[in-house]
Amino acid sequence: MLSIAVLVSGGGTNLQAIIDAIESGKLKDVSIGCVISNRKDAYALTRAKDHKIPGECIRPRDFGSIEEYGDHLANYLQSNGIDLVVLAGFLVVLPKNFIQAFAGRIINIHPSLIPSFCGDGFYGLKVHEAALARGVKVTGATVHYVDEGTDTGPIIIQKAVCVEPGDTPEILQKRVMEQAEWVILPEAIDLVRKELEDRR
Ligand code: GAR
Repeated sequence: MLSIAVLVSGGGTNLQAIIDAIESGKLKDVSIGCVISNRKDAYALTRAKDHKIPGECIRPRDFGSIEEYGDHLANYLQSNGIDLVVLAGFLVVLPKNFIQAFAGRIINIHPSLIPSFCGDGFYGLKVHEAALARGVKVTGATVHYVDEGTDTGPIIIQKAVCVEPGDTPEILQKRVMEQAEWVILPEAIDLVRKELEDRR
């Protein structure tokens, strides 16, 4: 059984997609060991509670530096037996020491087809605003491994989504979530589970 930690900052619809995939039996041999939020009021924590998953708010501002935060988070997850860290709308840039502690065992979902509309400053609605401003006709979502850069790690899965006439950032965000993010995130976790098994 692969134990995952899901790190969140907001609504947690991607967390919900993982929970649903596990509960429906689509995603096998995976359990959510904990949900970590950097915001107390994140609705994702309510979703965790509703499904009896341990949830914790651990915020950078409660530590002297981002490195101290990284150390604390890595120790917390390691002492809870976490095998894989899933960033699902987690808007903190994690420090090197954390990335190194979980090297090759952190994945992230990003709401565009990387390398478009990614990197520093591209998160949430801003990504869809930029895609519409550029006038792309196809966008999508990407799940990738996390390395020390922002959205630079190896790509695991991508799924394309059409931009439609009259789209607003909100409408496009919803379509990308429904048609791509909620589909590929559980699939990527399954692929990584198999890969981690092979690495053993
Ligand atoms: C999702 O669209 C996710 O791809 C994005 O934040 C949203 C979180 O929604 N992540 C990023 O932009 C990371 N750069 P959720 O809390 O409902 O899952």
